[in-house]
Amino acid sequence: MEEIQRYKILLISLIFVVFIFYFYEPDFEYLETVTGILSIVAGEPINASFPITFYQSAYVDYRFNPPRLRIFTLNKCVKNQFLLADLHFDRDISASVRKNIYGKPMESHCPSAYIPASPCFYSPYIFSISLKPNEDPKKVTIFLGNRTVELNVQKVYTKSTEGITVCLQPVYYYSQWQNIVLYIEAWRAHGATRFIVYFHSATKETWKTLEYYRDLGIIEIKPWPSFPSLPVDIADKYPKIDDSVFILSYFMAMNICILDIKTTIGTVADFDEVMVPTNGRLLDYATKEMANTKVGALIFQNHYVSLTPRIYTSNFSGVRSPKFLTFNRPPKVDYIFNASTIAVAQVHVPDSFIDSSMRSEYADGALLHFRYKVESENLKITEKPFRFFPDNHSPHITNMEDTAQKIFNGAMLTFSSKPYDTLQKCVRKIIPVEDKVCRSTGGICKEEMDKVNDWVYDKSDPLFLVGA
Ligand SMILES: *[C@@H]1O[C@H](CO)[C@@H](O)[C@H](O)[C@H]1NC(C)=O
Ligand SMILES: *[C@@H]1O[C@H](CO)[C@@H](O)[C@H](O)[C@H]1NC(C)=O
Ligand SMILES: *[C@@H]1O[C@H](CO)[C@@H](O)[C@H](O)[C@H]1NC(C)=O
Ligand SMILES: *[C@@H]1O[C@H](CO)[C@@H](O)[C@H](O)[C@H]1NC(C)=O
Repeated sequence: MEEIQRYKILLISLIFVVFIFYFYEPDFEYLETVTGILSIVAGEPINASFPITFYQSAYVDYRFNPPRLRIFTLNKCVKNQFLLADLHFDRDISASVRKNIYGKPMESHCPSAYIPASPCFYSPYIFSISLKPNEDPKKVTIFLGNRTVELNVQKVYTKSTEGITVCLQPVYYYSQWQNIVLYIEAWRAHGATRFIVYFHSATKETWKTLEYYRDLGIIEIKPWPSFPSLPVDIADKYPKIDDSVFILSYFMAMNICILDIKTTIGTVADFDEVMVPTNGRLLDYATKEMANTKVGALIFQNHYVSLTPRIYTSNFSGVRSPKFLTFNRPPKVDYIFNASTIAVAQVHVPDSFIDSSMRSEYADGALLHFRYKVESENLKITEKPFRFFPDNHSPHITNMEDTAQKIFNGAMLTFSSKPYDTLQKCVRKIIPVEDKVCRSTGGICKEEMDKVNDWVYDKSDPLFLVGA
């Protein structure tokens, strides 16, 4: 008995220690010093035999003081290794300085602590270093033994344009174009001025919808093509990047997207998620709650929404009176943030702020989540005060109808759930923990998806580089 008691105490103290460790997030400066000291003992440059791919641009982030050079990569977990890099200050490449640049997994853990992602071989990393006042790199060359990688440099500043920018995680095999119409119109009504969509693949109808809004200048479609292969001499030693990254590459995309935000407020939300305050317009509410305060993010609790009639089989009239489904589990959350101060974003909550005295707060509002087929879960339906639009719904519903007519020239196809069902079936077959397989629908489901639809794929050159 006593023995068990002792183990119990030991276990509780262990959990406590892990808890403290997990919640104590050392800031960047501190981390750099520590990894710097460690490297004197055991550091080595990352070389050509290491599986790594680089986002094509490095960023000089002037939101930090001193400014930081940040390099985004996907790679095998790093242990005390660093990147050997030359920063070129002039276009003619004459003036340069060599640096050892250390990395940190974006999620703080490598491999990922998130169970479904833990079997993924490639993790997103940020390699970063503080710059001196006179250092203004125009280009970065990374030396990997007998290979080199050249990155262009982009600059990130504090945001001053009032508005909300919405980032979308990469669109893979998307078929519910109706969601996109409701999403864009609702977010715009709440003050969103720009949408950034990373595109991998979708149905023709979805592509047409995206093109329509792109041509109106509302959304920017950015390519999110398949990842490059590793160099031939190491390719057969490691999994293909496309097959072993899926969920984690989302994480990278959203953090790169955030750097491209020019407005005061930003968010990352899927096509079936709209965040609304209980009263008024989101932009006004968020500005009031966050401007000149220590609140760097507002967190909204998830509310699954049921619309009758359904937007997939009928028209948008169901948007007028949404009903809410109640789950017996803690709701997931999502958030909007002050784009000048977010350092690293996680999917559901901020990971860290540039000014470490900033904090997150719960919002007086809701994340309206109109997840496809949520009605089939047969849950209790309740009334709540939340609405999609901050003002009279009728003109918005008419506008969404007219928009759909315009996109398809009045010739709308009957909606088929086959693409969605096929993707779900493919993803569910993979049990990440047991099979130790990374849920990489991009690579693993392609063959099955190609059987049910003629997909529009992004065909751009890879955005990630492996060097030559
Ligand atoms: C590359 O790095 C690995 C691990 O750090 C090391 O074992 C290997 O000797 C290096 N190869 C070369 C050619 O330097
Ligand atoms: C780099 O070195 C490796 C092993 O030494 C070799 O297999 C590979 O072909 C070399 N790559 C280049 C680009 O020279
Ligand atoms: C964002 O943060 C900056 C820096 O702390 C602050 O000056 C600004 O008022 C904040 N803006 C909003 C909209 O929260
Ligand atoms: C929308 O669909 C509903 C149900 O199918 C129907 O009753 C209603 O008349 C439709 N509204 C418009 C404007 O077509």
